[in-house]
Amino acid sequence: MPTNLCVVGATGKFGRSIISLTDSSIKVTGAVSSDTNPLVGKPITDVGGKSPSVLITRASEIERAAANSDVVLFVSTAISDLNNIPKIIQLDKRIVVGTTGFDTTQYERLRSMLKEVPSVLTSNFAVGANILFRIAKLLSGFSDIYDYSIIEHHHKMKSDAPSGTAKTIHEILNSQAAFSRVVTDRTMKPKRDHGEIEIFSLRGGGTPGIHQLILAGEYERIVVEHLAFSRAASAVGALIACKWIASKMSPGIYSMQDVLNLNDPKSAT
Ligand SMILES: NC(=O)c1ccc[n+]([C@@H]2O[C@H](COP(=O)([O-])OP(=O)(O)OC[C@H]3O[C@@H](n4cnc5c(N)ncnc54)[C@H](OP(=O)(O)O)[C@@H]3O)[C@@H](O)[C@H]2O)c1
Repeated sequence: MPTNLCVVGATGKFGRSIISLTDSSIKVTGAVSSDTNPLVGKPITDVGGKSPSVLITRASEIERAAANSDVVLFVSTAISDLNNIPKIIQLDKRIVVGTTGFDTTQYERLRSMLKEVPSVLTSNFAVGANILFRIAKLLSGFSDIYDYSIIEHHHKMKSDAPSGTAKTIHEILNSQAAFSRVVTDRTMKPKRDHGEIEIFSLRGGGTPGIHQLILAGEYERIVVEHLAFSRAASAVGALIACKWIASKMSPGIYSMQDVLNLNDPKSAT
């Protein structure tokens, strides 16, 4: 049986990529855009979908779009997700959220909603990026020896900085050591103090997403890099997450580390 999926943000760059990569194991049964999108009422074939009978629905009718789905995937905007997710929880659907750009308060609200149903929340669906998260955990305990930096590169239209993935790498490092002082610009503070972490954002062209974790020591340096060739890297991971959560019965928030079985059995995260 295929997983029935509703994509919220179907007309966006990421939503289109996800919809165009669906195969016989996952069927798009709903697609949602903002209320004002000119594609409202048009078939999902206009955004790369396979079934001309499924039409793009405005956000104010999200319940109708989600009615036939097992899983609702959010890849839209932080504000709209906070409005729309409670309506989907009312329908008792499984939820996957890949939207980024939530501030701390919004993120807490999001998490308190998502724990009501089986859900996946991640800043990066790409399998390789999640292997990078696993490596970041392994590398997190050496702050006495190395200075840590995160550099992220993205296309020039990206609406948030630093990227959600860079923030996740920072959180993972912080769970082991004290990198509480984030430096995003060296202009006013050229010299480095202990306990700092540099997080630098580069924006240019159509770069789909590069993340580098750099550990610089006195005599050696480690660089771990994840480079997505295209949005398809994340889109494939999003579809893996949607299929995985479809069979989960227990409410709670799962990560891509859970989906990909990348958790350290010895740790409780
Ligand atoms: N987790 C990951 O691996 C990953 C990977 C890539 C992107 N992302 C994140 O996914 C999100 C979307 O990225 P994108 O590049 O596709 O952005 P985008 O091209 O700007 O698309 C945003 C989508 O959200 C829709 N939207 C806007 N307001 C809405 C509302 N009120 N209700 C429902 N939908 C609404 C837009 O509809 P209109 O076109 O009608 O405005 C559009 O479909 C961003 O937060 C991005 O950072 C995450």
